[in-house]
Amino acid sequence: MGKLDGKTALVTGGSRGIGRAVALRLASEGAFVAVHYGGDEDAAQRTVADIERAGGRAVAIQARFGEDDAVDRLFEALTAELDGRGLDILVNNAGIASASPIAVLTPAELDRLLKVNVAAPFFVTQRALPLLNDDGRIINMGSVASRMGVAVQIGYTVTKAALEALAPSLANELGRRGITVNTVAPGAIRTDMTAGYVSIPEAAAALEAITALGRLGEPEDVADVVGFLAGPDARYVTGQTVDVSGGTWLGPIAPAAT
Ligand SMILES: NC(=O)c1ccc[n+]([C@@H]2O[C@H](COP(=O)([O-])OP(=O)(O)OC[C@H]3O[C@@H](n4cnc5c(N)ncnc54)[C@H](OP(=O)(O)O)[C@@H]3O)[C@@H](O)[C@H]2O)c1
Repeated sequence: MGKLDGKTALVTGGSRGIGRAVALRLASEGAFVAVHYGGDEDAAQRTVADIERAGGRAVAIQARFGEDDAVDRLFEALTAELDGRGLDILVNNAGIASASPIAVLTPAELDRLLKVNVAAPFFVTQRALPLLNDDGRIINMGSVASRMGVAVQIGYTVTKAALEALAPSLANELGRRGITVNTVAPGAIRTDMTAGYVSIPEAAAALEAITALGRLGEPEDVADVVGFLAGPDARYVTGQTVDVSGGTWLGPIAPAAT
């Protein structure tokens, strides 16, 4: 018997990367998973098929955040799929990156970052509230970027810091119902989002050099932590940010003793 048997989950951006690993993990524990995606239907269907092949249950739902009515369309489809059941687990994972230092970040790019990384999870959460069952779970995908100074990620960093700010307030609002709200903050994880720079050996080595565990992360490294936070064992953890970065940028790393 899985720890999430009988539970329902929505994973935004569940088609690829970290979200896909989260969807697979929650489904492997027994949850019915709504795999949301923006535009890559093949990837979403692959994730659903992989879940079903492993004996789980899932459905794909499309809605491109940043477009008018995307959140409405997501919840119209989700409500139909839930068919009267409530929602137990919401993972606000979908997000986009940016590599523009402040001198070149345009209003249009900042607006898009804010829409997809902040406004979408904010209003997805708002729409999820009436559906959320007592003892439910909300997990937002932050980033170590919000505690580090990476000049080319300034726009992205601002959005992740804003997203991170949701958890404490919501945790206080929802705690009396047993609902927990937490942020997971990954370091550099090997996904399509990071493929451009981690495929450069020097860039990967530079990231590994500032990471205590000495390696980049895999989507499953993050999904396992989300799985814990989504489950019953994390019932007394709320309003927190959990860093899942292998110890990125903790301070000087001493040379190995010889
Ligand atoms: N990878 C990292 O190193 C890292 C580190 C820290 C935090 N994070 C955060 O973790 C989350 C997932 O990142 P990832 O690396 O897995 O990214 P990814 O591989 O690029 O996947 C992004 C997912 O989000 C969906 N998505 C993107 N834009 C969307 C939009 N406008 N509307 C709806 N869905 C959209 C994508 O669906 P479609 O393909 O269908 O559009 C896809 O499922 C993000 O919030 C990211 O900021 C990642």
